Parts: sequence; structure tokens; C-alpha cells
Amino acid sequence: MIAACTTRQSESPTGQAVQTVRLAELVGGLSYALDLTEGLPPGHATRCCWIGMHIAKEIQLPEQQFSDLYYTLLLKDAGCSSNAARVFELYANDDRAIKRDYASVNNRSFVALAKFVIGHLAPEAPLVEKLRRFALLAMRGEKIQSDLVAARCQRGSDIALEMGFSPETAAAIEALGEYWDGRGRPRGLKGTDIPMNSRIALLAQVVEVFWSLGGPQEALACAQERSGTWFDPNLVRALQLAAAKPGFWQHLASRELSTRVARLEPVNRVIIADEARCDVIARAFARVIDAKSPFTFGHSTRVARYADAIARQLGMQPKNRRWLRRAALLHDIGKLGISNALLDKPGKLTPAEYAKIKEHSRLSGEILCRIPLFREFADIGRSHHERLDGKGYPLGLQGEQINLETRIVTVADIFDALTAERPYRGALPVREALALMAKDRGIALDPECLDALHAVLPSLNV
Ligand SMILES: [Fe+2]
Ligand SMILES: [Fe+2]
Repeated sequence: MIAACTTRQSESPTGQAVQTVRLAELVGGLSYALDLTEGLPPGHATRCCWIGMHIAKEIQLPEQQFSDLYYTLLLKDAGCSSNAARVFELYANDDRAIKRDYASVNNRSFVALAKFVIGHLAPEAPLVEKLRRFALLAMRGEKIQSDLVAARCQRGSDIALEMGFSPETAAAIEALGEYWDGRGRPRGLKGTDIPMNSRIALLAQVVEVFWSLGGPQEALACAQERSGTWFDPNLVRALQLAAAKPGFWQHLASRELSTRVARLEPVNRVIIADEARCDVIARAFARVIDAKSPFTFGHSTRVARYADAIARQLGMQPKNRRWLRRAALLHDIGKLGISNALLDKPGKLTPAEYAKIKEHSRLSGEILCRIPLFREFADIGRSHHERLDGKGYPLGLQGEQINLETRIVTVADIFDALTAERPYRGALPVREALALMAKDRGIALDPECLDALHAVLPSLNV
């Protein structure tokens, strides 16, 4: 469980300027959201970073490649949200559970693959529908899997570039699905044609998955078994040497791992997250969030634009508006931890399903709390579905307990939700959306924020 935040909701944030925050801390914190999307235990990417950097030390990777590898390991799953909807569409099942369980399947074994597909396919569908889906996967599985890997790796690579990381980091993420023997995806690269950092990241991520499932013995056995097929044999030997050193596995399991991993960033290449870099990271991460579902495409970016316009209309200072934009971009980060089986469900949600969707705001708060620089956003993430009358969630806060910044994001969020297409209804015209929101004026929604939205609408070109 992620630690609770200490910020009090009723207090407005300070919008303090960024001082000397290391980019490693920022990206390391955000990587927890990527773990959720993959259905993997929190800290997966951080542990991969620990494993991969130790392998790199054993092979004496040239110093200039260390920094590229460090961010490859933390951001290797940056594209994972882009294929979540497709995974749900194929399996009609929780995309996170499928991704989590697939991570430990031996995809060279037809029996293992068939067992996996049968065990995960459309649990609630009639037999004939299951058979139809099974036949599709059996006939076109290779192409489908290749497309899924390509979409994810290409998107991850693009996100790394957008965030300002090196072309080497982006290239390593792009080739993460390639195997040593040339039977990987999507390009079938072989041996040393695969970037070194991709080979290290692949080994580190599989070792982490098996370590999480069965401890060090399982992890080392899997590495040995797949040496020469999935993995570069030299790297497997390096892993064995690193793993034999005191503290390697103990630190992997320790609560202080994040701090230790932050210290692994090469000291002479430490990147400081200045104001401009923070904006870039928040914008790029908003695209990761919005890629989770076709129905949230562009949502976070639009909410940030609307929230900024409302804040400007209310006379908020530029430095606070900059802060608010970042918070609005990340308000739904918890959606990365929600199954597409719920986010993309075309029909009405059951009460139990709706309760699970509501979890996203609590998750947003928890993820943002992990990141020192974004901790002040945590309240907005957690509370953007609260209502002035106390009937919102997750805490049922009322009136003054909800700060102005959160009220602004709530109005912007609802306006975009109403005017965008949803799985269960089409987009509403602006006039209709405003009429619906007017019914909640002073009840759920802040009247001043609503007035400000009305005032700025002409400039928003909605
Ligand atoms: Fe939300
Ligand atoms: Fe939202």
C-alpha cells in the first residue's frame, strides 16, 4: 500500500517553484503508475532498475550508457497503456490480469500458451463466443501479439523522446520485445543487433517478475533456462555474479529500495527536473493516462486547458496556474490502475463495477503522494470527484473542505466528460452540458468556477 499523504485538503497548495529535484525521483515515482497498468506489483520498474543497473556494473557497461540504461529501466513500460484497450477487446477480460499473468508464460510452449488463453478468455461469455475468440487467437495470434508488442514499444519510445530522454533510451525501449535468438517481436532482431540496453532491460524485467512470484531461486532458474533463447548468455552470467554479492536480493525486498535506486543514477550525469522539464513530463504522462482507453483520448490535456482558463478568469497568479495545469494533467493518473473491462464497458455499470471505477481517484492520490514534487497535487487527484454537498467520493468532503484548485479541476473535468463521447452515450452539445451542470450549481459544483467556465467558453473553441 502506498503511504498516505500529509497534505490537508482544505488548504490551498503553495504552488512553490521547483528547486533541485532530481528527475530520477520524479520518473521513479511515476513508474509506479506504469506498474499498475501492467498489473504488476508496485515497485516493479524500480526493482528492474536495481537489477539492470547491477548487471550493467558486472559487464562494465561504458559510463556514458549508464544514464540511458537507468531511464530505459524506469520507463520501459511507458507505452503499456496504449495496448490495454486492445488486450481487453481480444480477451474480454481484465487487461491488467492478462498482462500480469502473461509476463510469466513461456511463449515458446504451445501448451503453455493454449492453457493461458483458455484460462483467461472471456470468463463471462457463452461457450460459442469463447470458441470464436480462441479460433481468432489461434489463427492470427502471431500477428496479433506482434502488433501488441509493436504498439507498446513504439509508443513507449515516443513517450521517452517527448519527455526529453536520449535517442538511445528511446531506441532501447523500442527493442524491448526482441529476443537474443531472433524470435522476438516486432522486428525479429538477433544477438548483438539488439541494443545492449534492451537486452539488459528484458532480462531485468523477467527476473523481477519471477522473483516476485517465487523468490531468487525462481528468478535465477528462469534466467538460466532462457539463456541463449530470450537472453544474452553474457548478461545471464553477469546477473549470476551480481546476484551472488551480499545484499543484492535483500535490498530488492527492502522498503528503502526507491532511495537506493535514486542513488544509482550516475552522479556525473544527474538530471535536475527544472520547471520546464516538469511541464514536459506532466504533459507526456497525461498522454500515457489518456491512451488507456479510447474514451479518454485527450481528456487530461483538455481538462488542463479548461482548468487553466477558469483559473485565469478567477485571477489566479501565473505560477499557481502553472502548478494547477500540471495537477489537472495528472488528476486521473489512478485510471492506469483500472481495468479496461470497466473503463470501456459499453453498457451500464453494476454498483460493484462503479465502486471499482471510483477507486481511481484514491489511486491518483496515492501515486502522486509518492512523488515529492507532485505531492501537492495529490489532493486534487484524490478529491476531484468530491461534491460541495458531501455526496462525492472518496471521502465525502463538503464545502470549505474542498479547496479552490480542486473545485476548478472538478468543473473542468465534468465539462469535458459531458462534451466527450463515452462508451455508454455520445458526446453532449455544449449547451446541454452547461444546462446539466447548472442543476448542480452550489450543490455539487462551485458557482464561481461555473461562472468562470461560462465566461471563458468563447476562447476555448469547444
Ligand atoms: Fe476522475
Ligand atoms: Fe477526469
